[in-house]
Amino acid sequence: MRAISYTESGGPDVLRLVDRPVPEPGPGEVRVRVAFSGVNPTDWKSRTNADPGPDGKTPNQDGAGTVDAVGQGVDPVLVGQRVWIWEAAWQRPFGTAAEYTVVPARQTVLLGDGPSFELGAALGIPFLTAHRCLTLAESLPDRLGPGSLTGRTVLVQGGAGAVGNAAVQLARWADATVIATVSSPEKAQLAAAAGADHVVDYRRQDVLTEVRKIAPKGVDAIVEVNPAVNAATDAQVLALHGAVAMYADDDGAEVTVPVRSQMTLNARWQFVLVYTEPGRAKEIAVEDVNAAVLDGAVRVGREAGLPLHVFPLDRTADAHQAVQDGVVGKVLIDVTG
Ligand SMILES: NC(=O)c1ccc[n+]([C@@H]2O[C@H](COP(=O)([O-])OP(=O)(O)OC[C@H]3O[C@@H](n4cnc5c(N)ncnc54)[C@H](OP(=O)(O)O)[C@@H]3O)[C@@H](O)[C@H]2O)c1
Repeated sequence: MRAISYTESGGPDVLRLVDRPVPEPGPGEVRVRVAFSGVNPTDWKSRTNADPGPDGKTPNQDGAGTVDAVGQGVDPVLVGQRVWIWEAAWQRPFGTAAEYTVVPARQTVLLGDGPSFELGAALGIPFLTAHRCLTLAESLPDRLGPGSLTGRTVLVQGGAGAVGNAAVQLARWADATVIATVSSPEKAQLAAAAGADHVVDYRRQDVLTEVRKIAPKGVDAIVEVNPAVNAATDAQVLALHGAVAMYADDDGAEVTVPVRSQMTLNARWQFVLVYTEPGRAKEIAVEDVNAAVLDGAVRVGREAGLPLHVFPLDRTADAHQAVQDGVVGKVLIDVTG
């Protein structure tokens, strides 16, 4: 099979197209014939920083395709099913930038016949992260679904980013009032297309003033991409028992939080790393995200606020570079292309 592999960490040029034997699924695993591989910042960061191991590594956590073999102990009824894949390359050598990958069966989720493979490959990292961020406030339910956030307000800092887009779409599905911040009119259009009720351009407007107008009692959850920069504002717009979910660092940044005002709110300031979140939270996230997909509530493409940028497998290095350069939207690799 054709696969992308790297044997040393470094820039995109360490990624090589190689010929490999098709891998065999071990006990508890399935083999997936990959259609699309999704690229996230985590993929280029681990390519840059983490030792790929003595046998090399195939990059990319997310993907979608068709199960074509199962290992011992896995129900053969899965063969032929369309699935999306999460965390394929987390502490394993087999990412999704290959014609076939093997993953533990629990890391594949049935897509059904309707949703596209492009959507399936865009789900894992962004949507599971967004779910965690939207469910960790003490005042909010730990599950998302239609009506679960009725009467609640969510602030998504960076609403045109991949995680931000997922948070807007999921919060919209759950019937929250959604406020998104962006840095340009173009990104404002994308956040609105994703379903944000209110969009605030943080370069042209004062976020504190605008959010207070929309939510005088404060917001229940803040999905925070840049806590080092936004913490002071977040602290002033958070509601009683609300939570700030911090899922990104700006290259080693530190956060300063005013203790008294946040103590008064019984606020949570919670760090989020999708890989190491509690197991039960991850299970719920996978179930809820898939329910949203099967409901037709989450989409990809410009009309959903998430323009797609599709590269063929032999241009995986360019796909990584595009994400590294902060391209707006979702980068996918057409593994068959
Ligand atoms: N902890 C986890 O589990 C986890 C999971 C997924 C991703 N991440 C990390 O999260 C970050 C974003 O990932 P992504 O895939 O969503 O990337 P992305 O698509 O590039 O989105 C990042 C967004 O953040 C916005 N942004 C930056 N500074 C901002 C600020 N001060 N206020 C509001 N928005 C701001 C950017 O837009 P403007 O610059 O135009 O504002 C951009 O839209 C990456 O560092 C990634 O590694 C962490």
